[in-house]
Amino acid sequence: MVTIEHLHKQFDKRVILEDVNLSLNDGEVLTIIGKSGTGKSVLLKSIIGLMKPDSGTITMDGQVISDFTENEYNLHVRNQMSMVFQEGALWDSMTVGENVELALRIHKHLSEDERKKIVAETLMMVGLGHIENEYPEDLSGGMIKRVAIARAVATRPKYLLYDEPTTGLDPVLSNVIDGLIAQLNKELDVSSLIISHDIESIKKISDRVAMLYQGNIIHTCRAEDMWNQRNDIFNKFIHGEVEFL
Ligand SMILES: Nc1ncnc2c1ncn2[C@@H]1O[C@H](COP(=O)(O)OP(=O)(O)OP(=O)(O)O)[C@@H](O)[C@H]1O
Ligand SMILES: [Mg+2]
Repeated sequence: MVTIEHLHKQFDKRVILEDVNLSLNDGEVLTIIGKSGTGKSVLLKSIIGLMKPDSGTITMDGQVISDFTENEYNLHVRNQMSMVFQEGALWDSMTVGENVELALRIHKHLSEDERKKIVAETLMMVGLGHIENEYPEDLSGGMIKRVAIARAVATRPKYLLYDEPTTGLDPVLSNVIDGLIAQLNKELDVSSLIISHDIESIKKISDRVAMLYQGNIIHTCRAEDMWNQRNDIFNKFIHGEVEFL
């Protein structure tokens, strides 16, 4: 379980996260929604330690991690928690295989043969066998997303953070990615925290939905009940009302 309590983050005088409280339960898919620029990516990056919150605590399996050093994050957090970045963030100068292998090199003590085996298995898992030697620039957008997921999954994390995994993909590819997220949750027994704007996909794969608005989680509900909520801001957002532009 990952618990976020009273998380506050500002850049200069601009408060982005005011007082965020949220828990990711074991085995669940929790999706965060909220308009562009509200701090969803800042929240995910804070959880995995790429950004330092100004105050508040983040706890993973009972241990406070938000005051960890970079080294402690690498040793104790990023071997159990991975993030799929909004833009994929693959290294262009590395092959697909090297990209997927990267976190294994950093976080797991394995022989080269063991690493290669896991890379091949993980690429198969995301439906991309035998492309280890290709470079990111030769891949389509959908393939890049899947390689980014493979890279995050290679270490077999307990927690996966996905930053807009289906944004920019056509409906068919979005479906493929949704299926993949659901499959990984089941097969690898991970808990997933997803940022998404894609209401169709949220309905399909999430257990719960939480809305970030003006620096706070203002509403949380079960995904299957999301159309019957009493929160006005939440309702307007999921119906795409223009005041959210
Ligand atoms: N390193 C930084 N320095 C200063 N401001 C930042 C930094 N990172 C993010 N911000 C600001 O914080 C705000 C929230 O950014 P964030 O990327 O988290 O938004 P978001 O909710 O993920 O938006 P989107 O849906 O467009 O991805 C933005 O106004 C952004 O400009
Ligand atoms: Mg973002």
